[in-house]
Amino acid sequence: MNYTQYFKKCKTKYEDEMKLDSHPKLDTFYEDTVQRAPTETFLDWEDNIYKIKAEVKTWFDDNPDNVFAKYPNIFDFKEELDGIAGQLVPWLERNIYGCYLYVDKIYIYRTAPVDERVSSYVWHYDNNPYEIVKSIIYLTDVIDDGHSPFEYLIDGVDGKGVIFPGEISDRPIRTGEGQWDNDGSRVNEEVEFMIENYNYKSNKIYGGVGTTTIFNCDTIHRTNPVKSGYRDVVNIRVKPTLNPAPAYIGENYTTSFESNGIVNINPELAWTELI
Ligand SMILES: [Fe+2]
Repeated sequence: MNYTQYFKKCKTKYEDEMKLDSHPKLDTFYEDTVQRAPTETFLDWEDNIYKIKAEVKTWFDDNPDNVFAKYPNIFDFKEELDGIAGQLVPWLERNIYGCYLYVDKIYIYRTAPVDERVSSYVWHYDNNPYEIVKSIIYLTDVIDDGHSPFEYLIDGVDGKGVIFPGEISDRPIRTGEGQWDNDGSRVNEEVEFMIENYNYKSNKIYGGVGTTTIFNCDTIHRTNPVKSGYRDVVNIRVKPTLNPAPAYIGENYTTSFESNGIVNINPELAWTELI
């Protein structure tokens, strides 16, 4: 079973069990690839964010790195992250996916000034199946281009985020068994060509602490280097699951930088098996 088939199966079960008035449509999931989370409606959102923000700042100030400084133990913030996921993930379940989800990855990292664009500073897509969505939460104010706004490619006509490959390339995306090759996910030249010659543009997300951008991991995106100071974020990645996990975040199934960023080829393993 590939990720799309599994997602459809998860949706059917969730819709059956949740008995809500309406459920998000499958097409919309693949079309509306980037959106702002309504964090003003999330309980204790700022409290949890500000607690993480303060401790992360101290740690990164003491442990700087050249390109990306990576926070080593997400479970230092177990309580706060449970609070954040407890608001964010059910919202994603009801409004974006229409299926049960669990958190399979959390990254906490700092973007610092860099001379040359490398790694996530280059236009790329994550090269996971389309059914994987990330939410990037700013821990610092991102008020202008000097503060490392998240940037993504949009279609100049409808303003929606562009998902790879689309018109950019015929290179296949990972979908599961049968299509899981990996020949790189950097698309800098392609994107520059599209922006110059066709109606594609870039869009940047500005906002204060707590601003949360939900994006399909295969939306073409990049991080911008900060010009001075730093930008810290929490990045929460979710994955469909047929059956709800005991909690959205779990030490047995939520990982961070210590393990590979590619999901398991078998979507059915979900939270029952650590990737
Ligand atoms: Fe990325």
